[in-house]
Amino acid sequence: MPNLRPHLLPRSPDVPAAVAGQVRQDHDRFADQGLPQDLDGYLRQAYGLEMTATYAGLTLRNPWGKASGQLALNRAQIEEAADAGLGLVVLKTVIAQDAAGHQSMAAWAIKESQMVAEPITSPTTGATGWTVTWKGRGWWQSLDDYLELVREGCRLGQERNLLVVPSVKYHLPAPGETAWRHDEYLETTRALLAAYPSPDGPTPMPLEKDFSPTLAGSDRASQRAMVLEWLRRVPGLIRSAATGPRPVKVGLKLFNSLDDDAFQQAMLAEVYGEARPDFLVYANRLFDPDRLFEGQRGVAYGGPDLSDRNLRLLSALRLAQARGAIERAPIEISGTGDISSGRIAVEYALRGCTSFQIHTLFQLPASAYPMRVGTKVQKALHRLYFDPEEGFIVWMIHAARRLDLVSEGVVRFLDLAGRGAASALTRRDLDPVGS
Ligand SMILES: Cc1cc2nc3c(=O)[nH]c(=O)nc-3n(C[C@H](O)[C@H](O)[C@H](O)COP(=O)(O)O)c2cc1C
Repeated sequence: MPNLRPHLLPRSPDVPAAVAGQVRQDHDRFADQGLPQDLDGYLRQAYGLEMTATYAGLTLRNPWGKASGQLALNRAQIEEAADAGLGLVVLKTVIAQDAAGHQSMAAWAIKESQMVAEPITSPTTGATGWTVTWKGRGWWQSLDDYLELVREGCRLGQERNLLVVPSVKYHLPAPGETAWRHDEYLETTRALLAAYPSPDGPTPMPLEKDFSPTLAGSDRASQRAMVLEWLRRVPGLIRSAATGPRPVKVGLKLFNSLDDDAFQQAMLAEVYGEARPDFLVYANRLFDPDRLFEGQRGVAYGGPDLSDRNLRLLSALRLAQARGAIERAPIEISGTGDISSGRIAVEYALRGCTSFQIHTLFQLPASAYPMRVGTKVQKALHRLYFDPEEGFIVWMIHAARRLDLVSEGVVRFLDLAGRGAASALTRRDLDPVGS
């Protein structure tokens, strides 16, 4: 059967036998003992991997992050990320409001419902994975409660070398609506800036603007011109709300359009136009408008079709940039979507992603993780790094060797992502013999 997936990496990693043996040994012993206390340090010392990463132009200890959602709602969940040594947590998305407390996007402030992690098979490629199904949407408590989470969570993050970032859903005009609710942008951005702790003076506050999959499935996203206008206008609206000494670093978390790949590419081209954001998060889950779940029609989903679409579009972006069809000047990209193995993470890095945001892999049933001790975040990291066939260590070393990025036995994650951002890599670059 032909390989229909857009992967650059070949079937099996080509690494020295000693490395493969050590990964296998580490995989088995850490499954019983738990991960080393200083995992970043261990990877440096044992494998020469330097995992320093970036997000919104800020340095992270490593690229792994909790994506915005149900696992980033409270202090305990941020502590769980810090204990596991993640580099980043993006808080649950809050719904913007004006000074009177009115929310034009109130339909997204819906209370959490039960989440179901279930296996999923791609109807087109047959690839298997996991998806989480639920009916909830954004933060449903008050803005004040959210600001308290930002204050407390960011302070904790600063103490523990973990970047904590707010996420917002601001007003977006629906078809037929011409006015933008500037007051929602002003009020919410200023409130977040005031809450975000800054022990080192007026450092910038990174912020994600969430364009969610349920938005992709709503009437609001039914007109192409309107969607492109959103992408053009939003960065300026958020920036102009930050009138104090402290700037905002605006990140757009793009949705996967129900439209075709050509339109998705047009969305990316728009982002690389004049009104560019400071960074991108690419890209939120797919949306199935027909699927019924607990009486509701239309649900977001993830799994292999999500990573396939994201990787395909990111490759198209790099190709368009290499050909000069899209502005070349880089915008930093944080990858999200079915980062279920180290191999998939390396695929995102090969398209220039400098950090990874995960939700689904952090909430699988216990039987999906080989590690028998620790939290789910730690178990996920164990699977991501140390899986002998699909893990990050073997695939990062494979890719670095192919791309000539090993320097005195050291492989820097940011060198790999930098190469991915600057070029349109092909399968031949990663597998010269075509295995
Ligand atoms: C239950 C659930 C809730 C989510 N809530 C949000 C949210 O509030 N804001 C947001 O930007 N993304 C949200 N997401 C999307 C995730 O942040 C993530 O980008 C996406 O699920 C893809 O990553 P994954 O394949 O690892 O799950 C949510 C995802 C899930 C599964």
